[in-house]
Amino acid sequence: MRILAIETSCDETSFAVVSIEEHAGFPVVMVEKNIVASQIALHAPFGGVVPMLAKREHIKNLPILWKEMQKIPEVRDKKIDLLAVTVGPGLEPALWTGIQFAQEIHKDFFEEKIHLVGVNHLEGHLYSFLLTENKKPKTENMFPMISLVVSGGHTILGVLESLTKYTKLGETLDDAVGESFDKVARLLDLPYPGGPLIEQLAKEGNAQAIALPHPMIHQKNYNFSYAGLKTAVLYYLKSQGVISQNFSPRAVAKKAKISEQLQKDLSASFQDAAFAPIVAKTSRVVQEYGARSVCVGGGVAANKKLPELLKEKLGDVSVVVPPFAYCQDNAAMIAVAGYMRYISKKKPYPIKADGTMSI
Ligand code: KG4
Ligand code: ZN
Repeated sequence: MRILAIETSCDETSFAVVSIEEHAGFPVVMVEKNIVASQIALHAPFGGVVPMLAKREHIKNLPILWKEMQKIPEVRDKKIDLLAVTVGPGLEPALWTGIQFAQEIHKDFFEEKIHLVGVNHLEGHLYSFLLTENKKPKTENMFPMISLVVSGGHTILGVLESLTKYTKLGETLDDAVGESFDKVARLLDLPYPGGPLIEQLAKEGNAQAIALPHPMIHQKNYNFSYAGLKTAVLYYLKSQGVISQNFSPRAVAKKAKISEQLQKDLSASFQDAAFAPIVAKTSRVVQEYGARSVCVGGGVAANKKLPELLKEKLGDVSVVVPPFAYCQDNAAMIAVAGYMRYISKKKPYPIKADGTMSI
């Protein structure tokens, strides 16, 4: 089956063509094309994604990328079996642009001869572990599999008993882990998105230099919390006189320029504190379910330290992380999630005629 997918839930406009074949009851995924127009540079000066700017940019990029996709013979000749589009969760004005565009090409280009399915963005990150450079995955020993979705909007721990039987076990109660990287980056005078820069600086910093809390690490549930960790970094910077006491994120009132060494040490200390509860809870859930593997998806999965820490803690349990391009938002993962929903015959996510999402 060949799937054409569109993703516009946040600040990446993306199209993909993915073909999927079943081998011994397991889907083997081949990405034929995955193109992404990133808006990072546009949003960076604002320290985060501005929804209406994202919408404007998606509207500009969608026809340009679609033109590019039509150069692919299989698209041009309409050898596509399924059209998939992200319907949420995400920024509503941004989602809306992709949904409307999908509806338009479904009607005008494909003449409604193929199915159009709505896809949950988080199921995209969940199934992104199947995007493994076209190698046939070893299926027998994978399940039960623990799934970690760690992105800018979500931090979710769940279990896959089979490819289509998923149960959510816990999630963040406030900020997502990626969001905390972005917020701490702002405190450290680093541009958006914070994750990649903090990872780089952490390599040269001392993770023991600053004692930070490990939120909810000892609680027996599988939930997370990141708002307090960010606040602890803020209080530390105030105590060092880097940030004035009446600082508010809106009215930036820095007292002194943060030193490079402090940026590095805080990056290392924060990164360790942010990953500690994820590693501890993943290890506990692996034992509880007798899991044979762990898959990680979402933007934070691009951080090399996380799988390193997981592998160190989990020993023989394999840790599967998609290639870098499929950790970030992309349409290839939306194609895979659309396929999974289609073949599992679960009720599709509704796409309303007015383009609004409802999941
Ligand atoms: O999955 P994603 O592209 O978008 C959402 O669905 O949210 O994730 C973006 C998030 C941002 O918060 C970004 O700072 C974080 O992923 N991120 C990282 C790294 N690269 C991206 N966080 C930690 N380390 C990284 N190397
Ligand atoms: Zn995402």
